[in-house]
Amino acid sequence: MKTAFITGAARGIGLAIAEEFFRKGWRIAMADILRDDLSAAAETLQKAGAEVLALPVDLSDLPAAEKAVAAAAGHFGGIDCLVNNAAGHDFLGIHEMTPASWHRVLQVNLTAPAFLSQFARPHLIASGQGCIINVTSIDAWFGKGIAPAYVAAKGGLLSLTYDLASALAPHGVRAVAVSPGAIDTELSRDYADASGGSLTEDLRNFTEDLIPLRRWGRPEEIARLVVWLAGPEAGYITGTEIVADGGLMHNNLSLKLKQRMNPGTFP
Ligand SMILES: NC(=O)c1ccc[n+]([C@@H]2O[C@H](COP(=O)([O-])OP(=O)(O)OC[C@H]3O[C@@H](n4cnc5c(N)ncnc54)[C@H](O)[C@@H]3O)[C@@H](O)[C@H]2O)c1
Repeated sequence: MKTAFITGAARGIGLAIAEEFFRKGWRIAMADILRDDLSAAAETLQKAGAEVLALPVDLSDLPAAEKAVAAAAGHFGGIDCLVNNAAGHDFLGIHEMTPASWHRVLQVNLTAPAFLSQFARPHLIASGQGCIINVTSIDAWFGKGIAPAYVAAKGGLLSLTYDLASALAPHGVRAVAVSPGAIDTELSRDYADASGGSLTEDLRNFTEDLIPLRRWGRPEEIARLVVWLAGPEAGYITGTEIVADGGLMHNNLSLKLKQRMNPGTFP
């Protein structure tokens, strides 16, 4: 049995990833700052028969993050896949962010994944089939003007993936970025709030209009991709980004062109 170390696993996409690893026969170490949600999620998985280790930790505290990795490796005898999924945000615009707010977002969304990769590195090398999956975002490619630190961190995480892939390939370890589009979770509901209004039917429909597949994504759809990427069928995939966004990223560009050519026709 292989072991996955998943950050931000108490809810949303991270929890769906933990559930999917379990379905595919992996052992799971779940790290999250939300202590109660984490223990409830771990308990449910355990009752279903999973081998789970719940690690309540603030990943922006790097010594605590290092201890969590060591605890998982000690408990399960190794780590075969690190999934850097946890993310935080503050939605402070360029006009209002402070050095402290910028640093907080970068610390969780970029610095923690970098150092978790360092801490997990010896275990991933020892695995012989190790991998790192970084959950980035299509926001790495275009911002919406409301969350510069989040967007910059996601761009950084994407670039970090390429560097990790080069550095670790000689040791047989792969690194891949997964970039979701609009996925229905707490985070996207907060994002919608910050974009101006709650996730009302109007805003939901507006977003759906921009998505060629005409619907929000589901956490399980990202989870299945991540777990497939961690497995042997994806053994030749490294140093790249897989986008799962229902076509949204490309449609944004085509929408802008359509707006330019037919002003007033599009929202
Ligand atoms: N939902 C979307 O539409 C969407 C789109 C693109 C990318 N993503 C990315 O997918 C990933 C998962 O997002 P989600 O939508 O499930 O969000 P979410 O807010 O539901 O889950 C994020 C998890 O990370 C945890 N976390 C945050 N800060 C932490 C810290 N300091 N230490 C430990 N854990 C911490 C949270 O407690 C939470 O459980 C994130 O990296 C996010 O940026 C999401």
